[in-house]
Amino acid sequence: MTLNQYIPTNLTKEINKGEAIWTSPSNIALVKYWGKKKHQIPENQSISFTLDACKTKTKLSYEKTNKVIDNYSFDVYLDGEEKLDFKPKINTFFERIEVYLPFLKDYHFKIETSNTFPHSSGIASSASGMSALALCLMSLEKELNPEITQEYFNEKASFLARLGSGSASRSIEGDLVVWGAHKAIEGSSDLYGIKYPYKVHDNFKNYHDTILLVDKGEKQVSSTVGHNLMYNHPFAKTRFKQAEENITNIKGILETGDLDGFIALIESEALTLHAMMMTSMPYFILMKPNTLEIIDKIWAFRKETGLHISFTLDAGANVHVLYPEKEAEAIYDFIKTELVAYCQNGHYICDRIGFGAKQL
Ligand code: PMV
Repeated sequence: MTLNQYIPTNLTKEINKGEAIWTSPSNIALVKYWGKKKHQIPENQSISFTLDACKTKTKLSYEKTNKVIDNYSFDVYLDGEEKLDFKPKINTFFERIEVYLPFLKDYHFKIETSNTFPHSSGIASSASGMSALALCLMSLEKELNPEITQEYFNEKASFLARLGSGSASRSIEGDLVVWGAHKAIEGSSDLYGIKYPYKVHDNFKNYHDTILLVDKGEKQVSSTVGHNLMYNHPFAKTRFKQAEENITNIKGILETGDLDGFIALIESEALTLHAMMMTSMPYFILMKPNTLEIIDKIWAFRKETGLHISFTLDAGANVHVLYPEKEAEAIYDFIKTELVAYCQNGHYICDRIGFGAKQL
């Protein structure tokens, strides 16, 4: 599948050398993407909060090679240290996107990257990392063709990021992003994420996400393997339909500021994601005992106080505690006194909704 609209035809400038630096955030899905077709096309639509503090900074230095080369020429560094083990993933990414960036083999690249969150925090860096790299490459395309519009730049950056990691397509902009064509969301596409185009109630402005690091180890099951287990999954069809309905439902919730409706929808999404993992073949469990302890405590505290604390999960044991700005003080106190004890080495990250990638 090649999409002509992303194949550049007008790369008129000669650029020998240069660099681009971007920071790009992580995101947390409210309606989860789990299951994909060929070419990183999602089986269902998803929507996420863009995060603010958890991000990747990437500097891409490029220099024209005057040789004709068969392979991509690049070196990659994390926190100043060369990372040979990152190369295969980037190589695969380059293979997928070369048709859209036909100049990839004309340059030698130095990719220097760092994350604001610790590498071994169990927080996936693929969304922020792949989107940061896609943006740096788009900056080079813009050097070669200064005519491209901002709209095309963002759309293609998301399109390319998606080919690196599906959820990365949702990290270019903020504060809410939809990925996947949905009849109720104008402009939505399977190919790239779009900024959520409708009214959002003040209740959801500056929403908090405190990430409790329950297990900082490497994931036992990669998301690629997990997505693939949705093929032939007995509940897949119903799940994809449910996600579609949840996107329709969240639209009303976001507009009216319905916090109770929001909580019910996102917690059900989080548990459904894990239920899909537990009911695939082979089956697996990514939650840990402390994940469940935290969920129990959140439910008890919510019942007792009526405050709008809620949780979501991604493909791991860590818990994202989500809560509105106007209740932040009391909820943060509770997190510190009651929940942090369940985190590995007491580690957690205070984040909130953010507004997307930035060029430095
Ligand atoms: O982008 P991937 O292929 O790592 O998939 C991410 C899937 C979830 O994080 C579990 C859900 C989501 O929508 O982000």
